Amino acid sequence: MPVTTADFIEKKKRGEKITVLTAYDYLTAKIVDSAGVDAILVGDSLGMVALGYKSTIPVTMEEMIHHTKAVVRGRKNAMVIFDMPFLSYQTGVRDAILNAGRALKETGCDAVKIEGGVEQAETIRALVNSGIPVMGHIGLQPQSVNVYGGYKLRGKGEERKRIIEDAKAVEEAGAFAVVLEKIPAELAREITEMLSIPTIGIGAGKYCDGQVLVFHDMVGLFEDFKPKFVKRYAELGKLAREAVEKFIEEVKSGKFPDEEHSY
Ligand code: KIV
Ligand code: NA
Repeated sequence: MPVTTADFIEKKKRGEKITVLTAYDYLTAKIVDSAGVDAILVGDSLGMVALGYKSTIPVTMEEMIHHTKAVVRGRKNAMVIFDMPFLSYQTGVRDAILNAGRALKETGCDAVKIEGGVEQAETIRALVNSGIPVMGHIGLQPQSVNVYGGYKLRGKGEERKRIIEDAKAVEEAGAFAVVLEKIPAELAREITEMLSIPTIGIGAGKYCDGQVLVFHDMVGLFEDFKPKFVKRYAELGKLAREAVEKFIEEVKSGKFPDEEHSY
C-alpha cells in the first residue's frame, strides 16, 4: 500500500521528517522508491532536466502524462505526485478538474501539485471536492518566471505577509501539503508552525516538515547550473562521462570487447 496523504499529516504530528525526490522515468522511480522516499514528484522541472527546455513554461499535459506513466510503473511504496503544467489549471476550475482528473485516470498517480496561493484557493478546493488530492506550491513559483523576471528569493520585506496569506489559503482550501520554494528559513519556520498540513521545503531551510530536491541535481547529473539550495550527494555526471571516455578509448585501442564479453 503506497504512502497516502493521511500518512503525510500523521508524520507531521509525530514530528517525523518527510522526504520527496523527483523522477521522470521508470528507472529513476525504482531507485528513489527502493531507497525509501515518501513521495516521488513528477515535476514539470522535467522540461528543463529531461527535455532541454529553457524553463517549465513549454511543458504540456501530454509530456507530463507520458513521463508519469513510466514513474508509476517503477514505484512500489512511494506516493506519486503529478505536477500540473503551465496553463493546465490557470484557465479555470473546470479545466483544472478535467486535466487533474485526466492525470489520475490515465497515469495512476495519487495526487497533483499546483503553483499558487490565494489566487488558486478556489481551484484547490474544487479539485479536492472532486476527489483529487492537491499539494500546494508557494514562494518561488517557476511557472511565473516571466512575471517576476527570474528565480530570485521570495518572501523578503513586504512580500512576507503575502506568503503567509498564501500558506493559510492553501491549507484552508484543503491541500494535504504545501511546497515552500526559495524563501527565508525563518519565514518557512513561521509557516510550518502555523499550519497543520506539512510544509515541504526546497531552498526554504531546515524547519520545514519535509524536503524535496530534483533527483538529477542531488546526484550531480544536471550540471547546467547549481542553485545554492542544491546539495550534491554524488557526482554521477562526472562518473558517467569518465565511463564513456573509457569506452571510447577501449574500443579504439581494441581492448573492448575482450573474451569475457564475447561469445
Ligand atoms: O518541478 C519540480 O521539480 C518542482 C519541485 C522542485 C518542487 O516543482
Ligand atoms: Na514544478
